[in-house]
Amino acid sequence: MSATKTTAAAIGVHGLHKRFGGLVALDGIELEARAAEVLGIIGVNGAGKTTLMNCICGIYRADRGSVSIGGRDMTGLTPHEIAHAGVGRTFQIPRVFRKMSLIDNLLVPVLDRNQTDRALIERAEAMLEQMRLIELRHNFAEELSGGQQKLLEMARMLMPEPKVVMLDEPFAGVHPTLCRFMIEQIEAIAAGGKTVLLISHDLTSIYRLSHRVAALNQGRVIAEGSVDEIRGNPAVVEAYLGA
Ligand SMILES: Nc1ncnc2c1ncn2[C@@H]1O[C@H](COP(=O)(O)OP(=O)(O)OP(=O)(O)O)[C@@H](O)[C@H]1O
Ligand SMILES: [Mg+2]
Repeated sequence: MSATKTTAAAIGVHGLHKRFGGLVALDGIELEARAAEVLGIIGVNGAGKTTLMNCICGIYRADRGSVSIGGRDMTGLTPHEIAHAGVGRTFQIPRVFRKMSLIDNLLVPVLDRNQTDRALIERAEAMLEQMRLIELRHNFAEELSGGQQKLLEMARMLMPEPKVVMLDEPFAGVHPTLCRFMIEQIEAIAAGGKTVLLISHDLTSIYRLSHRVAALNQGRVIAEGSVDEIRGNPAVVEAYLGA
């Protein structure tokens, strides 16, 4: 762990750089999410949104810069350690355990908890009920539709009760009905006081859910502010329409 600047922000990202060979994916990102805030992240394909999330949760190691969670420096920690510090995430393409039942999928992140099997199973069942997947609890995850896999992944993320949740494209490829349900779930997560980092190309949903929005382009934050500030920002409009 390097000696780096940390803040009391729920998520603090300072001077984050990430290259893939000659490609600069993140070019000095400065970003903070306050506690219990929904921070929307927008940007065209390849802007660096997923790479940012991967650096925050430790899947990628940044070349330079720091990441803090609740003021604790997370730079250089493993994904497991960062998850234990209270950070949960979902993936752009859901990563469920395909050959495991829905219940077992939910138990994986909490097996080392000092709780009885019964308490954990009851919690997993309540979570599946909330996500309208309870009837399928003994089915293999591979039997779920793509949209249902997104719900399962969200339920699994919530099992260890993370303080910070990061959602990568929760609405992508999702029918409008399920999209509305997903929005309600995210509203409930935010109402519960969690900090949410929400990546999406669905600007209507981003603008509805976010307290603040940051726009990325070519690995840089080109604008950051309230929904109204971002909506009318010329640099954001140009990045979307001028590209
Ligand atoms: N593992 C990797 N290896 C090489 N290049 C990568 C890798 N991951 C991302 N990149 C590159 O980094 C840049 C940013 O990618 P990233 O996935 O972060 O974009 P994004 O904003 O999430 O885009 P999208 O909206 O399409 O999901 C892209 O040019 C991408 O090709
Ligand atoms: Mg992405």
